[in-house]
Amino acid sequence: MLRRLSPVQPDSFEFTPANLEWARAQMTKYPEGRQQSAVIPVLWRAQEQEGWLTRPAIEYCADLLGMAYIRVLEVATFYFMFQLQPVGSVAHIQICGTTTCMICGAGELIAVCKEKIAPQAHMLSEDGKFSWEEVECLAACSNAPMAQIGKDYYEDLTAEKLAQLIDAMAAGKVPVPGPQDGRFSSEPKSGANALTGLVPAVEKYNASVALAVDLKDTIKRIDGTEAPILTPWLGGKAAKAKAEAKAEASAARDDRAAGQPAISGRQPVKLEAPKGGQADDLKEISGVGPVLEKLLHSLGIYHFDQIADWDDEEIAWVDENLEGFKGRVSRDEWVRQAQVFVKERKGSND
Ligand code: FES
Repeated sequence: MLRRLSPVQPDSFEFTPANLEWARAQMTKYPEGRQQSAVIPVLWRAQEQEGWLTRPAIEYCADLLGMAYIRVLEVATFYFMFQLQPVGSVAHIQICGTTTCMICGAGELIAVCKEKIAPQAHMLSEDGKFSWEEVECLAACSNAPMAQIGKDYYEDLTAEKLAQLIDAMAAGKVPVPGPQDGRFSSEPKSGANALTGLVPAVEKYNASVALAVDLKDTIKRIDGTEAPILTPWLGGKAAKAKAEAKAEASAARDDRAAGQPAISGRQPVKLEAPKGGQADDLKEISGVGPVLEKLLHSLGIYHFDQIADWDDEEIAWVDENLEGFKGRVSRDEWVRQAQVFVKERKGSND
């Protein structure tokens, strides 16, 4: 299936402070230099924040993880879990259309979506509350046909049942996920006839449904404030690192307030505004995205020729003062890249 970015995109994306803290905590799960391993959870969080993955969000996550945009785009376009178009404000419904579900009635479920939501997949309903798509096997084949709605599975569906689920959600309710025909889990429709002692007769819901009922996040988007951010893998170092980071940030703020450079090095000459009112497109430097470009502008850096002239002291200063992107100047060799751009421009002007 062709998965492309939406032609309509917002201008920018930024994590909320809570989500940024969460994303940074996830990045600490991996060894130094391997932070890009956190790409899927970080993208997922960006999607949770806005409902779908915008191009600015993909680029923001790439900047955060120090990855080339194309690498993050590859991940975002590969997995169905990432929505590249705006989705319904209440729910996005993913109907499994693979063999077992198709044999058992997925076509009828899709017809319901076309009638009640929109004639085509990835179109919003008129009231903007719902959207739908057909997806590949969701691995609940023994409960076919089924659909994933938000974060949970609704199984053993019929056209009537799906229509009722949509109506209930439109009315602000969240029906209990899981089998919709009275089955406990995926035992035979005629009832369990093996390992009967293992089926807990007293349990109301199977484990997946019980968890969904407990978490109550079937169609609710998580926003980063649900639970404390746990980083047990850091052990006692976590609190110490947090305290040090806080102290460092506060010292930097004090230094800045006193008009002094935050850390070591020397601040490069700062421009109040771009020369001739037109800044260079600093995003042409590999590793610089919209967020970093904005940050550079806030430091009075607008042009390739400014960066091309930095000496070691100035590189050290900028490296230390790129909040959230420390060390990027040296790591991505901005000076060398900027010198190439300056040379190319000079050549084309001669
Ligand atoms: S075929 Fe639908 S879940 Fe596997």
